[in-house]
Amino acid sequence: MAKLCKKPAAAKAQGALRELWPGQSVELLKALHILTRDGALNADSRRKLKQVLHLANLIRPALDAAFAVRDQPVLADLGAGKSYLGFVLYDLFFRGQGRGVVIGVEARPDLIETSKAIAAASGFERMRFVESAIRDAALPEGRADIVTALHACDTASDEAILFALRHDAKFVALVPCCQAELASELEGSKKPQRQLWRHPIQRREFGAHLTNVLRGLFLEAHGYKVRVTELTGLEHTLKNEFIFAERHQRANARAKAEYDRLVEQFGVQPKLLAAA
Ligand SMILES: C[S@@+](CC[C@H](N)C(=O)[O-])C[C@H]1O[C@@H](n2cnc3c(N)ncnc32)[C@H](O)[C@@H]1O
Repeated sequence: MAKLCKKPAAAKAQGALRELWPGQSVELLKALHILTRDGALNADSRRKLKQVLHLANLIRPALDAAFAVRDQPVLADLGAGKSYLGFVLYDLFFRGQGRGVVIGVEARPDLIETSKAIAAASGFERMRFVESAIRDAALPEGRADIVTALHACDTASDEAILFALRHDAKFVALVPCCQAELASELEGSKKPQRQLWRHPIQRREFGAHLTNVLRGLFLEAHGYKVRVTELTGLEHTLKNEFIFAERHQRANARAKAEYDRLVEQFGVQPKLLAAA
């Protein structure tokens, strides 16, 4: 009979270490419960770590640019949750620079308290946490150079876009989560294209796709160059669309006209963007 082969804890921890970036704090990852006390990774935490490290890699040019032009660059992570992303970005980029601020905005007070405790224990003095809905959040600095929102639920990605505009962000990095608003508005639509969203599963997918297309165009209309790619492999997350925007002008009338044309064609748009 074949023997069940169990990897010893030390071997698991060695394997986990290979997934980290050079210099990345193992103690921080243990405090975040991404690594177990023995230093190993379970399947869920491996997926989360992969997403966060991929995102860190994708926004690295934005961080380099912000550090090059600002004495104290500000990164705001919105719908921060347990602040995995903010902590990892601080550890990898802000800690070594000795300057710059990372701010997590999150609606849940329990998550804010835990994050504050981990930041204090890690000596991350330039990390702050704001307990607020994204739409009501205003930073004392009045600006954020980089805005990130990883899997912020439903319309929270729209709130993040408006937050970025209010804070004059040069860079916006979004990985939207599930999106139900437009799917429910498309239900019962009499538009000639209605066969595109006749079945609920197609309505959900089409609604989410249209939402992200409109988000990209909205950002372009406000003067951002927009790139949409995938975050990481679908085996790591199904919510995998990465929208990266860099502002290079104040407005773009052609993109605004395209946005309006799509809204006219399909008869729906995210309410928060419509009201902006
Ligand atoms: C799916 S979790 C993602 C957390 C984190 N960004 C990550 O990827 O690990 C979404 C988080 O956003 C928070 N959230 C959702 N909508 C929000 C809003 N409008 N304002 C502030 N926080 C919000 C939720 O409380 C939750 O912690």
